[in-house]
Amino acid sequence: MRARVLVAIDGPAGAGKSTVAKLLASRLDFLLVDTGALYRTVALAAQRAGLSFADDEQVGALAEGLAAERRIHMEAESQGDARGVRVLIDSEDVSSFIRTPEMSLGASRVSANPRVRDALLAMQRQAGENGGVVLEGRDIGTVVFPDAEVKFYLTAASTERAQRRMDELLAKGSAVSLEETLADVNKRDRADTERPIAPLRQADDAYLVDSTGMPIEQVVDGMVRIVLAKDEELRRGRNL
Ligand code: DC
Repeated sequence: MRARVLVAIDGPAGAGKSTVAKLLASRLDFLLVDTGALYRTVALAAQRAGLSFADDEQVGALAEGLAAERRIHMEAESQGDARGVRVLIDSEDVSSFIRTPEMSLGASRVSANPRVRDALLAMQRQAGENGGVVLEGRDIGTVVFPDAEVKFYLTAASTERAQRRMDELLAKGSAVSLEETLADVNKRDRADTERPIAPLRQADDAYLVDSTGMPIEQVVDGMVRIVLAKDEELRRGRNL
């Protein structure tokens, strides 16, 4: 049994997951693990190796090699008020290269590759095993930690998700239109929910949180209450 709860947050692109996960981790003083960064890093490594994202054979072998030789790994870092992790290839911090629209689509494509998913599984499980952690992704509550003490499935209307994604990209200096971003969001949703391996779906025991039109602080307040209640239950259970 874990000493503290493990929180799984899954949901589609642009549902506000990263913002919510960061605020939640910081309010709880939990470690924040953004698992999408791992898939983005594999996409980056594939691109650097001159591979097509769709080349399942080669990309699968690449991901397996990177994981087995521990050439891809996570390292703790502070992210504003939260304790988070960054991903490194060898010793290179690739954070600034993986947040581009190209790597978003690349990550979505390589994440449909079962060998890539398998290669990244142990790393994610290791990061969360002791609890006191918020893991954010697409299949945390369904595949990576089906035994997570608290699971949230966070969603929002697709136009709102596209707007948020566009604001994020604009803040980073990439000029994109809402139409383009909405098309990207819809394309990724389709790819993430329709893939045969670990498709994006709400776990049966996950709380559904629809953040459409809701202030983010209000969303997080509700989630903090749920996690603290569960954490307290866990503590009481241990002391019996
Ligand atoms: O959360 P993100 O946008 O950084 O994720 C990038 C891609 O990685 C996303 O399209 C789907 C994939 N992903 C996944 O399949 N499973 C996860 N646990 C996290 C991300």
